[in-house]
Amino acid sequence: MRILAIESSCDETAIAVIREQDGEIFVEKNLLATQIEIHKLYGGVVPEVAAREHVSAIFPMLMESGIDQYGNGIDAIAVTAGPGLVPALRIGVELAKTLAWIWKKPLVAVNHLEGHIYSVWHHAIQTQKEPMFPAVCLLVSGGHTELLLMRDHGDYQLLGMTRDDAAGEAFDKVANLLNLGYPGGPIISKTALDGDPNAIAFPRPMHGSGDLDFSFSGLKTAVRVHLDANPSDRANTANVCASFQQAVVDSLVDKTLTAVSVHHPRSVILSGGVSANQALRSTLQSKLEKQFSEITFHAPDLSLTGDNAVMIGLAGLYRAKKKQFVDPLTLVADPNMRLAL
Ligand code: KG4
Ligand code: ZN
Repeated sequence: MRILAIESSCDETAIAVIREQDGEIFVEKNLLATQIEIHKLYGGVVPEVAAREHVSAIFPMLMESGIDQYGNGIDAIAVTAGPGLVPALRIGVELAKTLAWIWKKPLVAVNHLEGHIYSVWHHAIQTQKEPMFPAVCLLVSGGHTELLLMRDHGDYQLLGMTRDDAAGEAFDKVANLLNLGYPGGPIISKTALDGDPNAIAFPRPMHGSGDLDFSFSGLKTAVRVHLDANPSDRANTANVCASFQQAVVDSLVDKTLTAVSVHHPRSVILSGGVSANQALRSTLQSKLEKQFSEITFHAPDLSLTGDNAVMIGLAGLYRAKKKQFVDPLTLVADPNMRLAL
């Protein structure tokens, strides 16, 4: 089965062609146009600007995908239908609907968060070590921080989520406080390498709260209060970055381990843009190995942690196999699309 996958939910335009054959996955095309340089000017993503950039990028990208104008060789089209920024989502969704209608191909509406989760399947299929169900999923991106129980393909239960900022958003906001630029995650984690994670005792929000929720806005405020009291740390940011990162990692790992001890999964899946964070990956993996050695741990290839269309194609593939198609005449982009209630 060959899938054309389209992603435009935020600030990356992406088109991929993936093929499944004899249980193997082949990524035939993986095209990505990032808008980071443009949104840097504003310190964050501006939806209207994102939409305009998607419009400019998406059609040349479709040409570059190598698919002919009749869609020959394509078995289904998968598109991110939500969650995300409406003006941005609509560019990919309207293109996918039009192609599905003209080419008479089945259309799959993919949840962007499910796409992030399926990013781990790329490596897992290649190595024949697929996650086993039930799996606890820690999904950490710029817009979402959720703990989910994945009972089977496409079957999710929400265990907990952030009550305010997402983990990636916290990295971005703290980087902004420190004038380090956007996006914050990569630069904070790089700066943190030269710092002491125990130098500043930032709070571990929601620790011992008795549920599986997160909160990061208080941590951001704690960084601001620290900087006001210690202005020299504005220029000397390594210890602030390392201590802030450690607080985020501790919060995420603490709640994930609690979810594991309550729900007894066979696998743990880490995904989303923040899963590129080396401290998070290694801390979660080593604690799981120590405390739950029988559970398998899965994180995406570093090339698939951020937004991309390969992950949308992978999630779309599983839905296409179950014939979970949508009507191209009625599909609408849903900014609040949920994976589970
Ligand atoms: O999943 P993603 O590419 O887009 C959304 O769906 O939101 O995630 C982007 C987020 C940004 O907030 C970025 O700062 C964060 O992922 N991020 C990181 C790292 N790389 C990207 N956060 C922490 N450490 C990193 N190395
Ligand atoms: Zn994302």
